[in-house]
Amino acid sequence: MSLPSAQQGPSVADVVAERTARAVSPVSPVVAFWRTTIGKKTVMAVSGLLFVLFLIAHMVGNLKIFAGAAEFDAYGAWLRTIGEPVLSHGWYLWIQRVGLLVALVAHVTAAAQLSARDLRARPVKYAHGQRVRATYATRTMRWGGVILALFVVWHVLDLTVGVVNPDFRHGQPHHNVVVDFQVWWINLIYIVAMVMLGLHINHGFASAAQTLGVTRPARRRAIRAVGTTLAVVLTAGYLVVPLGVMTGMVS
Ligand code: HEM
Repeated sequence: MSLPSAQQGPSVADVVAERTARAVSPVSPVVAFWRTTIGKKTVMAVSGLLFVLFLIAHMVGNLKIFAGAAEFDAYGAWLRTIGEPVLSHGWYLWIQRVGLLVALVAHVTAAAQLSARDLRARPVKYAHGQRVRATYATRTMRWGGVILALFVVWHVLDLTVGVVNPDFRHGQPHHNVVVDFQVWWINLIYIVAMVMLGLHINHGFASAAQTLGVTRPARRRAIRAVGTTLAVVLTAGYLVVPLGVMTGMVS
């Protein structure tokens, strides 16, 4: 997903630096593209869309928790059999993990480098103390992104590794989720993260569309609507799980 600077375009200093770098040191087209502002934004857009695909599948899987412990745990076990017999047991999950990790590193690196460029381009604050376009959305994307990255680390330690789960049991994801959401501050962590996720997708989807060149004036509203719908459906789809445990519907 694209950062704040998506709407601003590269500064003159950026463009000069990019062209000078290209002129003095010939590099492979991939590296040269990565060094450009549009290259980093493209990496953010493509990796962001990949996360959205994962998040849709993960949300649908999570909703199976309402079908009961046996079905949810069977679903967790099935995830490990995907691709068999071509792949060995659990391999698909590892391929997915490596893919998500590469996408995450690329997304965060591009975000950090674009932010640094943006800050370098305008080192002097304006009289009213605000950088000219450090908009609400810009700050939400930066801080929201940091919070989401921390959440993913927490979440993997919680439900995959189990070290921060109140009573982790291997192969029993239903139990692990239920014991989580009986603790108020764990609910709080998840609720804050899910709201951040919604805000991030809402803005990021439109930025990604702009970066990838699919935004035309006539389509702008439709793209915004798709991004907002995705954000609301994903946030709600994830939030119903802790809410289900808190209300006793899932136990
Ligand atoms: C209430 C919300 C959520 C619940 C109940 C939930 C539940 C789970 C469970 C039970 C697992 C372990 C699956 C298994 O090993 O069989 C898992 C893994 C995972 N979840 Fe979530 N999840 C939620 C939200 C999210 C969100 C918002 C993200 C991303 C931003 C996310 C990313 C992941 C990742 C990356 C894994 C690791 C998958 C792996 O082990 O390879 N989850 N989740």
